[in-house]
Amino acid sequence: MIRLRLLAVPLIAIASFASSPSGWTQSKEPPPLALDGSASPQPWQRYRDWNKARWDAYNTLDKRDLTKPAGSEIQVRTVTGDAANGQKLAFDRSRGGGCLACHVMGARTQALPGNVGVDLSEVGTAGRTDQWLFNYIYDPRVYNPESVMPPWGKHGFYNEAEIRDMVAFLKTLKTPTKFADPLDNPERRPVPVEDRDALDPFVNPAAERIEAGAALFAKVGPNGKACAACHSDPKAAFVRWAVEMPKWESRLGKVLGAEEFIARHALATTGAAFFMQSRENTDLSIFLHSLANGQPIKVDLSSPEAKAAFERGVALSKIKIGQFNFSCIDCHEKGANKWLRGQWLGEARGQFDHFPLWRTSRSEIWDIRKRFQWCNVQVRANELQPDAPEYGELELYLRKMNEGLTLTAPNIRH
Ligand code: HEC
Ligand code: HEC
Ligand code: HEC
Repeated sequence: MIRLRLLAVPLIAIASFASSPSGWTQSKEPPPLALDGSASPQPWQRYRDWNKARWDAYNTLDKRDLTKPAGSEIQVRTVTGDAANGQKLAFDRSRGGGCLACHVMGARTQALPGNVGVDLSEVGTAGRTDQWLFNYIYDPRVYNPESVMPPWGKHGFYNEAEIRDMVAFLKTLKTPTKFADPLDNPERRPVPVEDRDALDPFVNPAAERIEAGAALFAKVGPNGKACAACHSDPKAAFVRWAVEMPKWESRLGKVLGAEEFIARHALATTGAAFFMQSRENTDLSIFLHSLANGQPIKVDLSSPEAKAAFERGVALSKIKIGQFNFSCIDCHEKGANKWLRGQWLGEARGQFDHFPLWRTSRSEIWDIRKRFQWCNVQVRANELQPDAPEYGELELYLRKMNEGLTLTAPNIRH
């Protein structure tokens, strides 16, 4: 059947075969896709063991005008507050993560402070006015519109009295911090190195799923056909496929990632409903990714539509979302190669050459879209469903940042 269809390829495509280095990939018919409906489970519901809160008042990747802009400076006279309570609030992780996520704060700083923000151990001698300190905590955007620090007062993490107490605490900080344990110094803490053997199933439970995916590829679906019926030699056919995803798909008018492709193509061919992030979808994704291991990542931005989608992805990486008011680049570019409390923040390059992966801290296999969802919920922004066009655009942007790196999937990360 495929051979017959190939015979029907227009002459111009056949002509391009001779000059095209990748041969038939240029002139193949487009893969059948189920174009209607969602590739995500419907209605989308957040994972039950994730933070259950909704943050409807704050920006998400698909709604950008919810969050209130910065107001003007709040006038404060000399702040008299309770410095001891201020310290307690500043160190309290349950109140938004605590200031120690990003700042070293003097002698009593607890274990593993981060360094996304400046060391505040001597802020009490820096000549800052109370007005400045109060407003920087209340809403730093009045001084720095692009601040990486959340608007703690404006976004309701702390009330004004609590912020006064924290100002009083900051004014007591006058001596550089000496770290008893060198691991606590974020400037000296050794950077984590991922050197586990990702393809050893004893080390990486995701590696086991390659076999499961291969079995699924050979399994007959509801239409009486297996994937293998049309693709008898997947190893040869798909040696580069996974490293060329995601790509612009004009029939859907969106960027299609590997997992959404699997869902829509399976439904259109074998008839199987392998929704995104289902076990079957992820297993097939792992299998198909493993076939492209060692291949350099390459993104196709040759069409104007793909180029425009990429630009939208770049813009999405910069928009501030959630109660924390963080963009992707706040953590992964401005904060990259620094510590957020005990977590080392990676930069965009190196982040998307190894998915899907096993997350040891969650004991789960995640595809890239689940990671996007997690990074949304972590900043207290409602996540989107896995097949959201915005995730496709972010994926395209991130893949471009990883171009040239070779795929190693499925991998393993903390
Ligand atoms: C996500 C990281 C992050 C967290 C969490 C954070 N800050 Fe900051 N903070 C920064 C960064 C980055 C700067 C400086 C540049 C900027 O505004 O982006 C800063 C600057 C400041 C400044 C101004 C320093 C100066 O030189 O005048 C103060 C004061 C401050 N932070 C206090 C706090 C307090 C109090 C908390 C906890 C309620 C806190 N920060 C939590 C990242 C953070
Ligand atoms: C009825 C035939 C048929 C079945 C069954 C089928 N495919 Fe395909 N598949 C195609 C055709 C036709 C194409 C487009 C031409 C090509 O790339 O070979 C394609 C292309 C692909 C591609 C490459 C897509 C691209 O962007 O170039 C992948 C990957 C793929 N199929 C995977 C699968 C998987 C996984 C299954 C099982 C869930 C499956 N196929 C079942 C016919 C089929
Ligand atoms: C508050 C900080 C923060 C923000 C904002 C954030 N992330 Fe993350 N992200 C993390 C942390 C922490 C990790 C785990 C450590 C690492 O790999 O950087 C992570 C990991 C990732 C990874 C996996 C890296 C790997 O090597 O496996 C990807 C991909 C990613 N983030 C993408 C995004 C995208 C896209 C956005 C914007 C929608 C975003 N992140 C926003 C903190 C953040």
